Amino acid sequence: MPRKKHVSVDIPEVPPALSAEEAAARAYEHDKPLTKHSFESHEHPIVRIEHLNKSFDETLVLKDVNLDVWPGEVVVVLGPSGSGKSTMLRCINLLETPTAGHILIEDEEITGSGKTDVNKLRQNLGMVFQSFNLFPHLTAKENVMIGQTKVLGKTKEEAEREALVQLDAVGLGDRADFTPAQLSGGQQQRVAIARAVAMHPDVLLFDEPTSALDPELVRGVLDVMRDLAENGGMTMIVVTHEMGFARDVADRAVFMEDGVVVEQGLPENVFDHPENERTAEFLGSIQAK
Ligand SMILES: Nc1ncnc2c1ncn2[C@@H]1O[C@H](COP(=O)(O)OP(=O)(O)O)[C@@H](O)[C@H]1O
Ligand SMILES: [Mg+2]
Repeated sequence: MPRKKHVSVDIPEVPPALSAEEAAARAYEHDKPLTKHSFESHEHPIVRIEHLNKSFDETLVLKDVNLDVWPGEVVVVLGPSGSGKSTMLRCINLLETPTAGHILIEDEEITGSGKTDVNKLRQNLGMVFQSFNLFPHLTAKENVMIGQTKVLGKTKEEAEREALVQLDAVGLGDRADFTPAQLSGGQQQRVAIARAVAMHPDVLLFDEPTSALDPELVRGVLDVMRDLAENGGMTMIVVTHEMGFARDVADRAVFMEDGVVVEQGLPENVFDHPENERTAEFLGSIQAK
C-alpha cells in the first residue's frame, strides 16, 4: 500500500506571548470601542488569544486568531458552519491542542509548556455543549453534584445544597430527582448549565447551546443564559445563531469565517452596519431563514 504522502501545512511563525502589562494595554486600546462592557485601564483580560493557529491533518482551520475577553464580558461568536468556532472554544479549554500561538487565562499561558493542570483549567472554564452530555443514569441533582464531589472535593451535603440552589436558579428546583430521560431537551440543557455554574468557573463557554432544541424550548435556555450574563456577572463566550439573543445580551459580537476573525464590534454595529461584505452576507442568509 502506498504510504500517505505527508503534506505539511504552512504555519506562520508566531511571536512570543506579550507580557501581561503590554497585552493589557494593547487590548484596552483595541477593545474599548468594540464592546459595551466597561473596564478600567488597570484591568487585564481574563482570556487572551494571540496568533492562535490550529490544523487538522493538512488543513489549517484557525488562522492567526487574536481575541481578548474581559472579566464579566459577554462575547458572542457568529459564523457559518465549519468556520472554526467550536475549534476555537475547544482550544481555550485544551479539548484541542493548538498548533501554534498562545492562549492565556488570567495571564497564565496554557499553551506550549505542557505544565498546565488540565483538570484545574477545565474546572475554571465551564463548557456547555450543543448535546447536553448529562449522565443518563443520574438524576438532575446528581448530575450537578458529581463534579463538585469528584473534582472540587466537596462533601455530599455541600454539593447537594449547591445543586439545589443552581437547579432553582434555572427553574428546575422541582425536577431535581428526575433523570435526563424524564426531562425535555430544554430542561436537560438547563441542568447542564446548572452543572457548569455549580463549579463556579471564571469563564463559561457555550457551543451552540440551543441548536439541538425544538424551537419552543429555546427561549427557556436563552433566558437562563441572559440571567447569568446580566445578573450573574459571568464572563461568557457564546457561539450561537440566535441573533435576537446576541443583539440583546452580547457586549461584543465576533464574526468568524474560514478560520479567521473577520469582524468584531458592538452588536448593533456588526448587525446593522457590518463593515465586511462576508459578515453582511452571512447575516442576510440567517435573517432570510
Ligand atoms: N477533529 C477534527 N478532525 C479533523 N477536522 C476537524 C476536526 N474538528 C473540526 N474539524 C474541521 O475544522 C473546521 C472547523 O470546524 P469547527 O470548529 O467545528 O467549525 P464550526 O464550529 O464553526 O462549525 C471544519 O472544516 C471541520 O471539518
Ligand atoms: Mg461548531
